[in-house]
Amino acid sequence: MKNEMNNFTYYNPTKIVFGKNRVPELSQLIPHGKKVLITYGGGSVVKFGTLARVKTALKGYEIGEFGGIEANPNFETAMKAVELIKNEGYDFLLAVGGGSVIDATKFIAAAVPFDGDPIDIFGGGIGKRLPVTTALPFATVLTLPATGSEMNAGSVITFKEKQAKLSFGSPFVFPQFSILEPEITYTLPERQLANGVIDAFVHIIEQYLTYPVGAMVQDRFAEGLLQTLIEIGPNIIDETNHDYNLRANFMWTATNALNTVLSPGVPQDWASHDMGHEITALYQVDHARTLTIVLPALLTVRKAEKWDKLLQYAERVWHITTGNDEEKIDAAIEKTKTFFESLGAPTSFKDIGLGEEVIDPLVAQLERHEQTALSERGDQTLEVSRRIYRQAL
Ligand code: NZQ
Ligand code: ZN
Repeated sequence: MKNEMNNFTYYNPTKIVFGKNRVPELSQLIPHGKKVLITYGGGSVVKFGTLARVKTALKGYEIGEFGGIEANPNFETAMKAVELIKNEGYDFLLAVGGGSVIDATKFIAAAVPFDGDPIDIFGGGIGKRLPVTTALPFATVLTLPATGSEMNAGSVITFKEKQAKLSFGSPFVFPQFSILEPEITYTLPERQLANGVIDAFVHIIEQYLTYPVGAMVQDRFAEGLLQTLIEIGPNIIDETNHDYNLRANFMWTATNALNTVLSPGVPQDWASHDMGHEITALYQVDHARTLTIVLPALLTVRKAEKWDKLLQYAERVWHITTGNDEEKIDAAIEKTKTFFESLGAPTSFKDIGLGEEVIDPLVAQLERHEQTALSERGDQTLEVSRRIYRQAL
């Protein structure tokens, strides 16, 4: 059968406001008269002055604050914001932070007008996965380039007690606008910079390393973004390097890695993310660091299924020209691993002090969360996932 591009409808309504000193434009972006709740995380935006800049820009608006959203944001925390909004009548949300604050805000925006128990927005054995049919309007001031959440309609929420990390998506939770000031990234520590490069890299891979469907534009976009990250990654993780264009290119690459520009009409494989979320849920590992453990192992185990695209990746992204096809593919997987290691990330369970004992609990988690038919063809069974986790030991 000939592999062709699937039909697609492409839609992305998020306005991007990018560059130097764009926060002061908030008052031109949020309609006057709105009662605005500013949401933020553990305090970096207080410490580094971003919250103060936002509040200055919103002079004249009625505003409130909701801080304390954790990395890997908790359902219970978000529900406290839902209560606050219902009690105090906010009608616009402004997330100031990274993916965690933005994702929590997306959920809050959907949960406030949700008819029923908001836990049912999720599936995965926890809720009924009922559709979101409306949401409060919200926008973001991005402080950490990584997730693409600032320009997409997805959100990942953690259920701490249930040891689950589940996502939902809805066209109603696209941010209305996102402010991207590369200079806001200057306060990020090396670990978060590395996490951002990695998360963006793996987002691109998961929309690219599947099987060919002749999508020349999507493939070339993906290859360009991957090569940009490979080129700038080593400099990005130098937290003292405040070169504006370096950070600007990083920020825009991370946004494009998951703003759906790469995915129209092509197969996708989110198995590394699905398998990684279980590692975070059980062992509290940073999101990006779960991906560097899973992806090289997944590419090794799934080499036959991804053969053609792996070869294309080897030749076009890593410029590997010597050896037979399998040698090229193996070299590309090895280079991917070395790239992650050069960013200080673990590429095995051993690297984070875990071993054999994780395999059964992780596979059981996948089963519990209905992750039993993963990958671009839905043929990654629990048994295949087990082999991948084992390969990552
Ligand atoms: O909480 P604060 O004090 O603000 O500190 C944060 C946090 O500790 C800090 N930080 C953020 N901006 C900073 C800063 N520190 C100094 N200077 C700044 N400018 O960085 C830490 C990590 O923040 P977090 O928001 O958790 O990181 P990230 O943006 O990587 O988001 C991770 C979350 O996003 C989800 C992940 O699963 C995870 O829960 N994802 C969301 C996606 C989406 N919505 O499309 C896709 C991704 O694949 C991902 O799953
Ligand atoms: Zn991710």
